Amino acid sequence: MAMKKLLRIAAYVLGGLLLIVAAVVLFLSMSGLPKHEVPEITYELAPTPEKVERGAKIAAVVCNHCHMDPTTRRLSGRRVEDIDPAFGEVYSSNITQHPEVGIGKWTDAQLAVLIRSGLKPDGTYVPPYMPKFPLLSDDDLEAVIAYLRSDRQELQPSESEPPPCKPSLLTKILSRTAFGPLPYPKTAVQHPAPSDQVAYGRYLATGQLGCYQCHSADFKTNSDLIPEESAGFFGGGNKLFDMEGKVVYAPNITIHKTTGIGAWTEEEFVQAVKWGRNPDGGTYAYPMLPYTTISEEDVRAIYAYLKTVPAIENEVVAVVE
Ligand code: HEC
Ligand code: HEC
Repeated sequence: MAMKKLLRIAAYVLGGLLLIVAAVVLFLSMSGLPKHEVPEITYELAPTPEKVERGAKIAAVVCNHCHMDPTTRRLSGRRVEDIDPAFGEVYSSNITQHPEVGIGKWTDAQLAVLIRSGLKPDGTYVPPYMPKFPLLSDDDLEAVIAYLRSDRQELQPSESEPPPCKPSLLTKILSRTAFGPLPYPKTAVQHPAPSDQVAYGRYLATGQLGCYQCHSADFKTNSDLIPEESAGFFGGGNKLFDMEGKVVYAPNITIHKTTGIGAWTEEEFVQAVKWGRNPDGGTYAYPMLPYTTISEEDVRAIYAYLKTVPAIENEVVAVVE
């Protein structure tokens, strides 16, 4: 008798718990992404043609491949197929100067906060569909914003309006647990001197060009604020996608002799990074795009820095046939 009663109570408790879980899942799938407080900063932009030029070179390799719409030939946004479908259906925004569907009405401060902290003016945090640049130097940030405000053809107003992203349930759950806005730097972020080759190479590979973001173990375990704390730092294995949505794994680019690039020459490295040519005479597949707008000295600085990064033994086959 007592046993039966106990079983019945257990069944009620279990049923109740399942109901709560179902309610939470329903709430999460119906609600949007959580809102956060937007840091209040003042931003003064003093654009010059040199800054625009510098910003254009940076944006060409860190922003435009995601925002370029091949049909308008402007940065009016596109369906982003090359992201893990587990995150949902993703469209990059129109970042042309259109006042309504682009960023024409955004202030420079709002752009700075989006780029560094990942927060939109309404307080939504952009999930990992778009990388954040918390360690970008003040000079480089200003250059990028000066570029976004410039008269370059690809930024002129386009009326094209990509549909809003449809974040998956997983993205929504992670957005309430693992992901969140990055603190906006409270002090100046210095640009290292190119003469200090290793420090400069570290800056390029982490703060500016974000090589480690793709080349470590997983976007979900990367550390935006202390890149060296990312799991498998530069050891590869991150699951990436090409334009058709096919999986490509990021290679190990630590100096491990057999599973990394320890046996490469500096020249082979320059050919790979600047021109996308591999040592066997072939070309690298998307998403490893050639860094044509950065100088050879910059690529050599990245190489000098990678030689100081601890080697990791991790055999990766990038393109699985
Ligand atoms: C990997 C692809 C990717 C890269 C690289 C990227 N973005 Fe984005 N960006 C996106 C996506 C996707 C969104 C839309 C996110 C959303 O709506 O939740 C977005 C949103 C934005 C927005 C917000 C626009 C709006 O109207 O809400 C701005 C501004 C922006 N990106 C600028 C940049 C700049 C500047 C860079 C380079 C420093 C950059 N992005 C690099 C994918 C990318
Ligand atoms: C968007 C993700 C992504 C970014 C960002 C990225 N890579 Fe790659 N990289 C890849 C992928 C994927 C491959 C493999 C492509 C292939 O095998 O066709 C690759 C290949 C390479 C290779 C060749 C390795 C080998 O074993 O053949 C080198 C070297 C390299 N990347 C260096 C860099 C550097 C330096 C940066 C930053 C300036 C960088 N990558 C940024 C994804 C990326």
